[in-house]
Amino acid sequence: MIEQNKMEKIVSLCKRRGFVFPSSEIYGGLAAIYDYGHYGALLKNNIRDAWWKHMVQLRSDIIGLDSAIFMHPTTWIASGHVGNFMDPQIDCRKCKNRMRADHILEEHGISADKQPIEFINEQINKLREEKKIKCQFCGSTDLTQARVFSLMVKSNLGSPTEELSEENVVYLRPETCGGIYLNYKNTVDSMRVKLPFGIAQIGKAFRNEIVARQFIFRTREFEQMEMQYFLHPSIMKEKYEMWKELRWKWYLEYGIPKEKLNWYKHEKLAHYASEAYDIEYKFESLGGFKEVEGIHARGDWDLSQHSKFSGIDLTYFDQEKEEKFIPHIAETSVGLNRLFFMFIDNAFTEEKIDDETRTVLKFNKNLAPIKIAVFPLLKNKPELVAKAKEIYDSLKINYMCEFDDNGNIGKRYRRQDEIGTPYCVTVDFDSLEDKKVTIRDRDTMQQERVEIEKLEEWMKDKLAF
Ligand code: GAP
Repeated sequence: MIEQNKMEKIVSLCKRRGFVFPSSEIYGGLAAIYDYGHYGALLKNNIRDAWWKHMVQLRSDIIGLDSAIFMHPTTWIASGHVGNFMDPQIDCRKCKNRMRADHILEEHGISADKQPIEFINEQINKLREEKKIKCQFCGSTDLTQARVFSLMVKSNLGSPTEELSEENVVYLRPETCGGIYLNYKNTVDSMRVKLPFGIAQIGKAFRNEIVARQFIFRTREFEQMEMQYFLHPSIMKEKYEMWKELRWKWYLEYGIPKEKLNWYKHEKLAHYASEAYDIEYKFESLGGFKEVEGIHARGDWDLSQHSKFSGIDLTYFDQEKEEKFIPHIAETSVGLNRLFFMFIDNAFTEEKIDDETRTVLKFNKNLAPIKIAVFPLLKNKPELVAKAKEIYDSLKINYMCEFDDNGNIGKRYRRQDEIGTPYCVTVDFDSLEDKKVTIRDRDTMQQERVEIEKLEEWMKDKLAF
């Protein structure tokens, strides 16, 4: 069941506390595009770093990449996106909103996965006759037939006019892995890597998604974190299982309970793929399990296609075995913005304390946007303010910290709870005598006195930086 309330509360908190803003709001907004404020940018960076650490820093078999968003347009013809990357849409004639026809069918237990538009319309018409479909937005039954809708976002480069002509059209990449395939040869040549090895990259992707009001779950501009693991087909099964296990563990390590995770096996696969699973997370604010990450065994299709269309030999030569072959690929692909939503959905907690409700984001401490808040007990006592500033200045070298002297301590705790700050450090009058401060824990609300001298060490024990 969708916790409508929870979705509204998350959207409101994200805006009010500077995590996520609707894009171009002063001009009325731009559908399915969002901006990230101070705390949002910090949280997104921390999730990105947590992924990069596991996928690149801690592995000797993975190389990093940062390829351009614009690529030669043939890339997307070779990959099949120009001809096939489409979604079926239905429009409401009354309110002009647009809906995904395949999602409507799914709600009635009919899978439209990889089905032609004729099949989709046949099923939609049956539901229409049975009076089982209506507009999700205004309830009208005056809906169009389903039509296919390209998800590719087009632009032009080097054209003297603003018009798109076929010869100067370029696409904003719909997935980041295209840049990885095109840099496979550069990576082998420059990094002297041997199979199996992976290339990982994080970056923006663009899709002309049919808008479906799910906050940042599905947007038209988003960031992907993708890793393509190149290997000999004989070890695909073993490495595919390894990546499934490693990616699953990453979620547990960052605080997602295993009951909120699920494997979804794709039964209908692209002709080149041998296996595809999604990691799903149970979004309370979206009413159930939804895909957050895909793990795919893609065969040798990508490199074969790019080899064919570019005329460049992308085979790998195994010197020991004296074998030449096009490497196969195991892919892990996850949306950074979708993970952001997942971590907020999981962290969002409301607790009754006496007559008040405490809203707290119980993030994994290493993902929290602000790690430590430092307060002087009173704003108008210069000696407390000076000591608190001194502590803030020394902690901020290693941790993202915030100094706050506004309002009473209770209010300052609530503000930090709402953005998920794990520790609040308060300098009071005793601090000037005993050289100790009070540390308050976000989750337990327990307080502890710690020597100022030992503060850095205390934090080091609890937080990574
Ligand atoms: N290279 C494979 C690929 O792109 P995908 O299933 O289309 O596969 C992978 O996308 C992940 O990217 C998804 O699991 C999701 O987390 C994220 N993603 C895809 N489309 C998105 C969108 N419109 N908005 C936000 N995230 C999206």
